[in-house]
Amino acid sequence: MDLVSLAKRRFTTKVFDADRKIPRHTLELLLEQLRNSPSSVNSQPWHFVVAESDQSRARIAHSTQGPFSFNQPKILNASHVIVFCTRTHLPEEYLQALLAQEAMDGRFHNAEARAGQERGRRGFVDLHRFDQKDLQHWMEKQTYLALGTLLLGAASLGIDATPMEGFDSKVLDSELGLREQGFTSLVVVSLGYHSSEDFNAGLPKSRLPSQSLFTFL
Ligand SMILES: Cc1cc2nc3c(=O)[nH]c(=O)nc-3n(C[C@H](O)[C@H](O)[C@H](O)COP(=O)(O)O)c2cc1C
Repeated sequence: MDLVSLAKRRFTTKVFDADRKIPRHTLELLLEQLRNSPSSVNSQPWHFVVAESDQSRARIAHSTQGPFSFNQPKILNASHVIVFCTRTHLPEEYLQALLAQEAMDGRFHNAEARAGQERGRRGFVDLHRFDQKDLQHWMEKQTYLALGTLLLGAASLGIDATPMEGFDSKVLDSELGLREQGFTSLVVVSLGYHSSEDFNAGLPKSRLPSQSLFTFL
């Protein structure tokens, strides 16, 4: 199916079929797509926690108590849940690790190309760290790009998904020990297959009309 049709067909699942699990190979394909998400200056300031067992999903569901309880069944009944995390720091060692990876992957034909990449990346990082003072926000924007990549990837593999900002990130960070590892949770995605009870599956998609979205110069 072409991408436009997939974008129109996918929808946010509100009720999962708790008995259906994503096959291992399909999940691996999805994670590989996620790993290949683009990010500004290839910064990849993210980490993904994948929960599969009932017990692991229950740990994530701790963060959906109180005002976020409407999301709890979507976590408990999904096949898999991915917690999208963003780095809380971008230290020198990490920038060096990125550069080393790019070198290993054959990105640099010579030392000049390597130095250029290092300079360019540092320029953007310093712009956000020191001038715009929005480094965390900038990194989170990159993580949201990965979210978009995953949602379309899931649709292409016939997997249903629910992106969720409705959870308590403080609770989830503590449950998973994320802050100690230099990460914080940003968005949670449940994955699996919708149930026949899912009222959202049959609803038409609603988007603002093209005339109000696009300006052609
Ligand atoms: C970043 C983000 C956060 C969202 N948070 C939630 C959520 O907490 N719970 C939920 O049921 N849906 C959530 N949604 C789903 C949106 O409401 C949904 O994407 C939107 O209404 C468009 O509908 P569609 O995804 O079915 O096309 C979220 C979507 C995005 C992209």
